[in-house]
Formats: sequence, structure tokens, C-alpha cells
Amino acid sequence: MTSIGIHDIAMATTRYRLDHAALAEAQGIDPEKYRVGIGQDSMSIAAPDEDIVTLAASAALPIIERHGTEGLRTVLVATETGIDQSKAAAVYVHELLGLPSAVRSVELKQACYSATAGLQMAAGLIARDPRQRVLVIATDVAKYDLDSSGEPTQGAAAVAMLVSADPAILELEGPSGVFTDDLMDFWRPNYRVTPIVDGKSSIRAYLRAAEGAWRDYREQGGEPWSAFAAHAYHSPFTKMAAKAHKHLAGLEGVALTPAEAEQSLEVANRYNRRIGNSYTAPVYLALLALLEQRDDLAGELIGLLSYGSGSVAEFFAGRVVEGYREHLRPERTAAWIDDREALTVERYRELHALRAPEDGGDRELPAETAAPFRLEAYRSHQRVYAAR
Ligand code: HMG
Repeated sequence: MTSIGIHDIAMATTRYRLDHAALAEAQGIDPEKYRVGIGQDSMSIAAPDEDIVTLAASAALPIIERHGTEGLRTVLVATETGIDQSKAAAVYVHELLGLPSAVRSVELKQACYSATAGLQMAAGLIARDPRQRVLVIATDVAKYDLDSSGEPTQGAAAVAMLVSADPAILELEGPSGVFTDDLMDFWRPNYRVTPIVDGKSSIRAYLRAAEGAWRDYREQGGEPWSAFAAHAYHSPFTKMAAKAHKHLAGLEGVALTPAEAEQSLEVANRYNRRIGNSYTAPVYLALLALLEQRDDLAGELIGLLSYGSGSVAEFFAGRVVEGYREHLRPERTAAWIDDREALTVERYRELHALRAPEDGGDRELPAETAAPFRLEAYRSHQRVYAAR
């Protein structure tokens, strides 16, 4: 059978960041609650001219520049920060990237989970016709209310993946373990900019869903715990990924202390610790961190756990392809993360208060992003994008 998986992968994040030490100082709380308690150092904050479309197109651009568009017949954009109730963000991304018209463009939603649905759908399309390639992009801007418990778990980023037959980076291997449970741990009604979240119950829901997906993976004939060289988890904050890792290891009789669980994920957590929650993207940022930052993983099996509130989870596996390192761009990832400008808390709060006009009023946006694409203006109820 043809192998199918990730042929190329690249990320993008925002112009700005807010350091948790600065937030803690402004809030008058111990900065260790954020650094150690939730395992976060900083979070990416979008400039006024950045949104899920500019992030997604910026992440995908180097992939299109490298591989062109041959065989590309589908673009799937996964997000829970939709900019329109009807038109897919993928159509805007398609235009910014200059893709041919013979490409289907669709947006996918299920909280933080949907990029994994996109990856599996891509694999299905390619199984049907191995000449085809699919661009899957996870892109989100996580925004919680000021002074809410979720505020320190904001962030923003996109990860773009080119999925193909005979992939150069990661082959999807074996079954998926899947889990759905209808519950209200985190949701965002159409009339709200920020979600409603029951933080403590959302942690329990994540662990239950991770367990359900893992058990199903094993029942479907998946590999035992000992087969995995590394894991990538959905990470709303890196301590949550460690809690999930400890929980799953415990189910298999591997008793980890919290510190051991954190240590096992130290490399996987490196990007998310600095970017924050990017909803659909962190599990793939964890994968990217492993590929770019860990010692040679060629031939090794990586376990991925994707979770989206509400709730859906999936555990699946990928085997790292020989020679994968030649296809990565670690310097580019480092530049995206390192070059972000630190915001004062005052400026962060001003940016937090910004809203898209709801009356169709026109607004030109200041040029602040350093990304290849920007949101130029709101005009006549439309978002107007441009290349920089
Ligand atoms: P909180 O209630 O303010 O924090 O917010 P806390 O009091 O529970 O403290 C957090 C941790 O810091 C605790 O550690 C404390 O002990 C520790 P734990 O017991 O968990 O191991 N701590 C300290 N450590 C060192 N020094 C100190 C100190 N003080 C405290 N001085 C909460 C936590 C998760 C509720 C909050 O961040 C929140 O509401 N976040 C948003 C919801 C969320 O991220 N949930 C995660 C699971 S759901 C999910 O992942 C889906 C999601 O991505 C959305 C989607 O799918 O669309 C969110």
C-alpha cells in the first residue's frame, strides 16, 4: 500500500508577544504560577492587520514556493476563529497563495481538533488518487476575556502541512483512535468574540477524551505505549500536555511523576511554551518542535493526541521518514518566534479591545505585521487582504 503523510510542514505566528512575567506583574500575582504552574513563558498576540487568513497564508507560502501547485487539488483550513459564517477562510487563502482554480477550498470546525480531521480527510483523498496533494492548515487566534482564568492561555499561530503519497517527513501509520462526547467545557456562541469556559471541568474533559481516544486506538490494533519514541499533544498550556501524558502512561502501567511527564515533553513543548494556545495548531507545533529540535528521529514512531472541546479527540501515529531533516526549516521557525516584539501590558490591552466593525463601516488598518500577507482594511462588510 502507498504510504501517505506529511510531505512538508511550516508555521507562522504573529508580530507581537506578551511575556507572562509582564502579565503577572500587572496582575500582582506570582509569575511562577504561569512559568511553572501552567508552563508558559509568553503568548503570541496578533497585530491589527493579522488574522487567521494572514497567518494561514504566511505559514503555507514557503510550501507553495518549494513544491508549486502540481497535484494540489484541495485546501482545508481548520480554525475555530472563523471570520465569516458562510465563506470559507480557505477561499481567501487560496487567493493569497495564487492557487489554480481547479482546487477545492473548505473550512473545517470542531474546536481545537479539526486540523486532525483535515489530515485524515486528506489521507482519504490521497488513498483514492495518490497523484493528488492536499494542503491542510491549522490557524487560530485564541482570545479570552481580560482578567479571566483563560487570559494567560491565549496565543496565535498557524501550521501548514502538505499531505501526499510517499511523504518526505512523516508517514501516517496504523489506525486512529477516536472519541466524541457532547459536553459544554468550552464554547463560543456566534454573538461572542471570546469563549465561555469552565476551566477545571475542561481539564477533566480533556483527560477523559484522551483516555477514550487512546483506548480506542489500542482496540483498533494500534501499537503499545512502549512503541513510541515521542509524543505530540494538543497544548492549551504546556502543563496540560504533561497532565495528559502522565494520564495515558499511567493507563499502561507506566507511573510518571508530574516532573517526569514534563521532562518527556520538554522538546515537544518548546514552541508552544512561547506561542501559547493556538487552538487547532499546538499539536502540530509540538510535532514540528520534535522534528526540528530533537536528536535524530528517523524511523521512529510519534504518537499524536488531538483534542477539541465540546468534545472530540483522536490518537494516531506517524513514522518519521529517513532524511526528514533536509526538508525542515528550523531557522525560519526560530525567526518567527524570536523576532516577535514584546508588548507592554497597556498596549496588549488596547489590542485586546479592538473589534472588527459590525456595521459595515470602512476602516483602513495600520501596517504593523512583518508577515508576507496583511489584512489591509474592512470595506463594505468585507475583509480586504494584500501581499506585503
Ligand atoms: P486557574 O484556575 O487560574 O489556575 O487557571 P490554578 O489555580 O488551577 O493554577 C494552575 C496551576 O498552577 C496549578 O497546578 C497550581 O497548583 C499552579 P496543577 O494543580 O494544575 O498542577 N500554581 C502555581 N505553581 C507554581 N507557583 C505558583 C502557583 N500558583 C498556582 N505560585 C485554568 C487554570 C486551566 C482553569 C485556566 O488556565 C483556564 O481557564 N484556561 C482555559 C481553558 C483551558 O485551557 N483548558 C484546558 C483543557 S480544554 C482544551 O485544551 C481545549 C481548548 O484548547 C479549547 C478548544 O478545544 O477549542 C481550551
